[in-house]
Amino acid sequence: PGLAVYDPGFVNTASCRSSVTYIDGEKGILEYRGYPIEQLAEKSSFLEVAYLLIHGSLPTKAEYEAWAHEITYHTFVHENVRTFMQGFRYDAHPMGMLMASVGALSTFYPDARNISDAENRHIQMVRMIAKMPTLGAWSFRHAQGKPYVYPDNDLGYTANFLSMLFKMSESKFGADERLVKALDVLFILHADHEQNCSTNAVRSVGSSQVDPYSAVAAGIGALYGPLHGGANEAVLRMLKRIGTKENIPDFIKGVKEGNERLMGFGHRVYKNYDPRATIIKKACDDVFEVTGVNPLLEIAQELEKIALEDEYFVKRKLYPNVDFYSGLIYEAFQFPPEMFTVLFAIGRTPGWLAQWSELVQDKEQKIARPKQIYTGDRTLDFVPASERW
Ligand code: CMC
Repeated sequence: PGLAVYDPGFVNTASCRSSVTYIDGEKGILEYRGYPIEQLAEKSSFLEVAYLLIHGSLPTKAEYEAWAHEITYHTFVHENVRTFMQGFRYDAHPMGMLMASVGALSTFYPDARNISDAENRHIQMVRMIAKMPTLGAWSFRHAQGKPYVYPDNDLGYTANFLSMLFKMSESKFGADERLVKALDVLFILHADHEQNCSTNAVRSVGSSQVDPYSAVAAGIGALYGPLHGGANEAVLRMLKRIGTKENIPDFIKGVKEGNERLMGFGHRVYKNYDPRATIIKKACDDVFEVTGVNPLLEIAQELEKIALEDEYFVKRKLYPNVDFYSGLIYEAFQFPPEMFTVLFAIGRTPGWLAQWSELVQDKEQKIARPKQIYTGDRTLDFVPASERW
C-alpha cells in the first residue's frame, strides 16, 4: 500500500538535507563546508578539519586552542575498557575490536543518551574523536601481543596515535615529522564523504535517537566491509597476488570476464579521478622518501595505466578511488593490512559525528524506515508441524 519507488542501494534517493560535504562526482570536486579538499590537505590539520566539519566554520585561534586542549585531555579511556579489550582472542580483527569497544563506550557514558542537549552532544563528540586513536592503537597492539601504550598528552593528535602504536623506540622510523604530516593528511582526506555507506548507517541508527557511540559503532560495522573501507586492505592483497607487472594483463582479463573486481577502482559518485587519490599519490612520494619505495607501487602504477586506457574501464568511468594508493602508504608505515580500515575509521569519525549532530538537530528528520517491494507469498494456510512431518 502507498507509493514505493524501488531504488536498491538508494542510488537515486536523497535521505537528508546536509550542509557538511559537497561532491561533484563528474568534475571530481570534494569540499568540506565549502572548502576544497586540496586546500585543506595542504594547509590545514586534521583537528582543525574536525572542528570545521562539526561546527560548520573555521575556528578562531582561541576556539582552536580550546578544541585541541579538550581533545588532548580526553584521550584516556576507563581502565575497564582496557580490560574489556584484553578479553578478545589474540587474533581478533582490529576493526571488530574497535566496533565493539566504541559500542561499549555507550555504557561508560550513559549521559550520552541525552542527545537533545547541545553541551552534552559536544562532550560526547570530543570524547569520541579523542578516544578513537587510543582504541585503534590498542587493537593493533593486542594483535601483536604487546602491552598497550597510554596516550601522551604532550604530543599532537596524530603523533600521539603513532606513539601509542609503535612506542617510538620500537619504530624503525621514529617520530619523523614527514610521516606524522602524511598520516594527518590521510585523516583529512577520509574525514567525510557525504552519504556513503557508513555515514548512512550512522544516520539510520542515529535516527532512532540512540546515543552517538551506538550509532558510530554501526558506522564502523559498515566501514568494515570490503566494498567500503575494507577496499584498501583488498587492494594490497590484490597487488601482492598479481606479484609482477607481467601478470597484469591476465589479471585485467579476469576482471573483464567478471571473475573479480579491480579493487580501489570505481566509485558510486565519482565518474572521474577521485580528488583524494590525486593527493594520496603525492603523499606517497613524501612517505617513501622516509621509508623507501614500496615495491608494489610499480605494479599499482602500471595497473592504473593499463586500466585507464582499457575500453572496459573507460566506458564505465572507472577511475582510481581513495583506496587505490592509501594501502601502499599504510604498508610503508609497517601497518598490517587489517589495520588499514581502522585508520579510515579514525579519519572518518569527525564526519560521522558532524552528520549525526546535523541529523539530531534536523526537525524534518524522521526515524529511517525505507519501504520495500514485497515479493513473497500471501495468505497461506498454516499446517502444524505434527501434520506436515
Ligand atoms: N572492477 C571491475 N568492474 C567494476 C568495478 C571494479 N572495481 N567497479 C564497478 N565495476 C563495473 C561493474 O561490474 C558494473 O559493470 P556492468 O555495468 O557491466 O554490470 C559497472 O562497473 C557499475 O558498477 P556498480 O557495481 O553498479 O557500481 P556501484 O556504484 O554500485 O559500486 C563500488 C561502486 C565502489 C562499490 C564499485 O565500483 C566497486 O566495487 N569497487 C571496488 C571496491 C572499492 O574500491 N571500493 C572502495 C570505494 S571508495 C572508498 C569507500 O567509499 O569506502
